[in-house]
Amino acid sequence: MASRAMPPEPAADSLRLILGDCRERMRELADDSIHLILTDPPYFLDGLDSAWRKGKGDTPRATGTVGALPVGMRFDPKQGPALQAFMRDVAAEWMRVLAPGGFALVFSQPRLSHRMAVGIEDAGFEIRDLLAWRFTRKAQFKAFSQDHFVRKMPLDEDGKAALIRSLEGRKTPQLRPQFEAVVLAQKPREGTFVANWQTWRTGLIDAGCSLDGGAPSTVMTVEKPDSVEKGPAGGHLTPKPVDLLAHLIRLFSEEGQMVLDPFMGSGSTGVAALRTGRRCIGIDKEEAYLEISRRRAAEEAERAAAAPPPDSAPTDRKA
Ligand SMILES: C[S@@+](CC[C@H](N)C(=O)[O-])C[C@H]1O[C@@H](n2cnc3c(N)ncnc32)[C@H](O)[C@@H]1O
Repeated sequence: MASRAMPPEPAADSLRLILGDCRERMRELADDSIHLILTDPPYFLDGLDSAWRKGKGDTPRATGTVGALPVGMRFDPKQGPALQAFMRDVAAEWMRVLAPGGFALVFSQPRLSHRMAVGIEDAGFEIRDLLAWRFTRKAQFKAFSQDHFVRKMPLDEDGKAALIRSLEGRKTPQLRPQFEAVVLAQKPREGTFVANWQTWRTGLIDAGCSLDGGAPSTVMTVEKPDSVEKGPAGGHLTPKPVDLLAHLIRLFSEEGQMVLDPFMGSGSTGVAALRTGRRCIGIDKEEAYLEISRRRAAEEAERAAAAPPPDSAPTDRKA
C-alpha cells in the first residue's frame, strides 16, 4: 500500500482555465496530452443545452399538455438526438487529446445517459461501464396526478368522477431521482494493458482506491453538496461533490497527471484535481463560472498550505 506523508501542494501552474466553447478551445491542446477527462456536460433538457442558460439555447422547448411540468421533467423526443450529436463532436476532440488507454468519465442525467454513451462511442471510444452517483438525501418526487386534465375533458360530471376514481394513485412516470449516471469510456489502448501502461501510464485503475473500505464499485454513495460546498460554488446550478470527483480522479489516474474538464462550471473538478496532486485544464464558456473556479482554486491552495500533520493526511489509496 502506498503511503505518502503529505498531500501534494498545488503548484501555481497546476490549474489552467480557458474561456470559450470547448469544441474550439480544445483544438489548442496537444495530441495525447491528457490522461483523464472528468466532466459534467450540459443536460440538453428544457433549453439547458450548449447555450446552458435556460431558454437561450437551440434545444427545442417542450410544448403541449406537458408544458406545466417543472424544469428537467418535460419530455421532448428531440432532446436525446441533440445531446448525442453534440457529444459526438465534443468526444471527437477528446479522442485526439487523450492519451491512448485514457478514460473519460462523463456525468449524465439518467434518462439521456444512453444518448450520451452512444455519442461518445460514435467518436471512437469504448464504453466500459455505467457508474451511478447515488445520494441518499431525498430528492423531490415530481410525478403528477392526472385529475386536473380529466376535469377539463368533455365528459359529464359522473363520467369525470368515475375516471378520476379509476386513476386513483396513478401518476406520470417520474420516480424520485436518487442517482446520476456516469458513463465510463476509454480511448482504445495501444497493444496490451501492460504495453499501453509502459508507454502512456493510462488504461488501468488503481484498485486500492475505496470510498467505503471495499473494492471500488459502480455505485458510489456521496451526499449532494451541502450548504458549505454549495456556497463556494456560488450559484452554479449543478455543482458536483468534490469528494466524489477526488475519488474518481484517484481511481482513474496517477499523481502528477493531467485532468481535463471541458465543462468546468464552478470548478469542482479543478479543486478535486489540486487536492489529489493532479494538474487540471478547465474550459467553460461563461466567464462568471471561471471566476468562481479561480476563487475556489485559491481557497484550495490555502487549505493545502494549512494541511493536517503527516500521519493524518489523505493518500491515493484508502483501502
Ligand atoms: C453541468 S455544468 C458543470 C458543473 C460542474 N460540474 C460543477 O461542479 O460546477 C455545465 C457547464 O458547461 C458549460 N458549457 C456548456 N456548453 C459549453 C461549451 N460548448 N463549451 C464550454 N463550456 C460549456 C456551462 O457554462 C456550464 O457551466
